[in-house]
Amino acid sequence: QTPPMIAPSILSADFAKLGAEADAVAGADWLHVDVMDGHFVPNLTLGLPVVQSLLKSTDIPIDCHLMIDDPGRWAPGYAEAGAYNVTFHAEATDDPIAVGRDIRAAGAKAGLSIKPGTDLDPYLEILKSFDTLLVMSVEPGFGGQSFIPEVLDKVRRVRSLVDSGELRVLVEIDGGINADTIEQAAEAGVDCFVAGSAVYNAADPAAAVQSLRAQATS
Ligand code: DX5
Ligand code: ZN
Repeated sequence: QTPPMIAPSILSADFAKLGAEADAVAGADWLHVDVMDGHFVPNLTLGLPVVQSLLKSTDIPIDCHLMIDDPGRWAPGYAEAGAYNVTFHAEATDDPIAVGRDIRAAGAKAGLSIKPGTDLDPYLEILKSFDTLLVMSVEPGFGGQSFIPEVLDKVRRVRSLVDSGELRVLVEIDGGINADTIEQAAEAGVDCFVAGSAVYNAADPAAAVQSLRAQATS
């Protein structure tokens, strides 16, 4: 297992100064960018033009989390723009393998995400076509919600398959990760922890990243 990674989510940042908000977490492993279309989730955030601007203003690898319908149409654009990892939702497409293939062909790592209520089992077989599995630990759509510990069963399952060499995928968790919840997620076998409010609502976001990473390591 790789050392724990922390991916601050700019959903909880000030959208009027995203460049400065990225600089405020300079020690982060990935910068998590939540793209919401107001259809797949009942909230609307930002799209490709904003991601293109962010890519120009930060050296932190960008982790795009697409909470959108029709990811096959939009996901490759984020990869072409230079995002490091592009994740879309399994619930949003009938052909996740094709979408993942297009993301990789466009030059990014491909991620598959599942909502808290979505079973992992039907997707285990196709995970070998992905670089990242993003396990949602809140209903996608909003920051600041409470962690749903039941999803850790899915993390444990994937962790054991990765540890036994049957799968090669980075396990990422998103939603409600903070000082109170990160240790149980780390114990279950998460590699990469998304944290929005726990980082950007902190007085010192960079220090919050370091302290979350230390907690995940212990
Ligand atoms: C929610 C987003 C998350 C969100 C997490 O749909 O996918 O990335 O920013 O926010 P917190 O860490 O506050 O739960
Ligand atoms: Zn997210």
